[in-house]
Amino acid sequence: MGFYNRWILPQLLDVAMRQKNFVPFRERTAGAARGRVLEIGIGSGLNLSSFRPDIESVCGVDPSAELLAKASGRAAKVGFPVRLLEASSERLPLEDRSFDTVVMTFTLCSIPDAGAALVEIRRVLKPEGELLFAEHGRAPDPDVIRWQDRITPVWKRIGGGCHLNRKIDDLIRAAGFRLDRLSVGYQKSAPRPFAFFYEGSARPV
Ligand SMILES: C[S@@+](CC[C@H](N)C(=O)[O-])C[C@H]1O[C@@H](n2cnc3c(N)ncnc32)[C@H](O)[C@@H]1O
Repeated sequence: MGFYNRWILPQLLDVAMRQKNFVPFRERTAGAARGRVLEIGIGSGLNLSSFRPDIESVCGVDPSAELLAKASGRAAKVGFPVRLLEASSERLPLEDRSFDTVVMTFTLCSIPDAGAALVEIRRVLKPEGELLFAEHGRAPDPDVIRWQDRITPVWKRIGGGCHLNRKIDDLIRAAGFRLDRLSVGYQKSAPRPFAFFYEGSARPV
């Protein structure tokens, strides 16, 4: 890992991810979690204040020790137990069928093997558990897709591996989930290649 990814990127991500437009996504997604919760790519812990105070616990996984250090400051301010785990979601050091809810916001774009991560998420979710997500990804319009495909190779080098062109609903279905709820659309706050969002919930088939 180079100097930029280790020291600069975590600071940039923490600031970029605090933008106001993301708050409603955080409140709807983390706010719907219940029971034992796993958050994939918890980053600097910006969802922690959006969980309901009566959830049982949150386990937050992220490969970045620097972001987890920021998350631990935010974890100290909430009233439920938080465990932070330095790990990659493609290989979760967690037991099968052990979580009621998995939460994932703005993360699937950055996971190197998103398909493998979703298979792991399915493994650790209880059979009646729920995956709640808010992600950006592949747009429906061919002219926007062309830009997403063009920009992604450069963007992922400076944006912590972020892909603009992943079709989030297809990836979730391919890992063995049924989508119970899905809403998609452009956010006005960013240029269109960066602004197509997928939000919803899924359960293991
Ligand atoms: C754009 S940030 C979003 C952080 C956080 N989810 C939020 O909503 O603020 C993407 C996150 O994905 C994490 N990430 C990258 N690769 C990962 C992997 N293999 N497994 C889990 N998380 C990963 C990054 O470290 C970073 O925290």
